[in-house]
Amino acid sequence: MIDFKVNSNCIRCFQCVKDCPVHIIGLGETGFPFIKKDQEEECIECQHCLAVCPKRAVSILGKDPKNSSDLRSKQIPKLSELELLVEGRRSVRRFQDENVDKKLITRLLSDALHAPTGVNSMQVNFFVVDDKETMQKIRVKVYNKISQCVQKNSLPIGMEFFKEFLKSWQENGHDNIFRKAPHMLLATADGTVAHTPHEDCIIALSYFELLAASESLGTVWCGLAKWALTSVLPEMKSEFGIPENHNIEYIMMFGVPAVKYFRTVQRDTADKIKTITF
Ligand SMILES: Cc1cc2nc3c(=O)[nH]c(=O)nc-3n(C[C@H](O)[C@H](O)[C@H](O)COP(=O)(O)O)c2cc1C
Repeated sequence: MIDFKVNSNCIRCFQCVKDCPVHIIGLGETGFPFIKKDQEEECIECQHCLAVCPKRAVSILGKDPKNSSDLRSKQIPKLSELELLVEGRRSVRRFQDENVDKKLITRLLSDALHAPTGVNSMQVNFFVVDDKETMQKIRVKVYNKISQCVQKNSLPIGMEFFKEFLKSWQENGHDNIFRKAPHMLLATADGTVAHTPHEDCIIALSYFELLAASESLGTVWCGLAKWALTSVLPEMKSEFGIPENHNIEYIMMFGVPAVKYFRTVQRDTADKIKTITF
């Protein structure tokens, strides 16, 4: 039941009809937009009909348009501001030994879940370690397991490099896997339901990364944590409460940076942008 409703504010501009990506909104006998019962299941729940209505006349899925942010009164950030964010962002590998405020974490994660998903499947789940003590327990468990594997010569094929990381941890206290970050974020999705689970998770994490940077938080994509947790310690997935049918698509570490970058790096982009002539 998608609960498509049009109230008396409707001016019959038909923007909702024109913008529906699956073309299921038609004109009823009264001349107002409506969706036939037998087409309801084609709805991808994108809420474009609610968003595009200039008169707040359309509601769907039980959502009242009054609860949406009104974009007309808001100033979208300028390109130069976003360039600063995108070009000034760095992978952070040195963190303060402190927790990020839990409310801020929740806000950033909720915002990041506004990222697009294939066919609007919205299957991305975030599993977050929001406390540095928990992160430390995980860190110790991972290095202990690597140590056991090294002793038994049982590191999974292709994961032998973890032996060197263990040595660096034991001898120098270097945490090359988790970078001593206080927080860890896992993006997972149910591959049996989502159409593009990997892409969806990567996009959501990319949004999170930039949102976090806007609040002066540091992030680092963490392929090493992903390999450790999916290959060396696959049992951690259920210990984290991640459902069986979800895959850990990627992992990001984050926290308050203990490093400051004073300038952007210089990327050579010109030769990577090519115009297709056809
Ligand atoms: C998919 C992916 C995986 C990464 N995995 C790691 C990692 O495991 N550890 C790490 O320190 N950095 C990791 N990075 C960070 C890259 O090394 C970093 O983005 C690159 O050196 C450029 O630096 P910048 O992000 O500061 O521009 C990863 C980045 C990406 C995109």
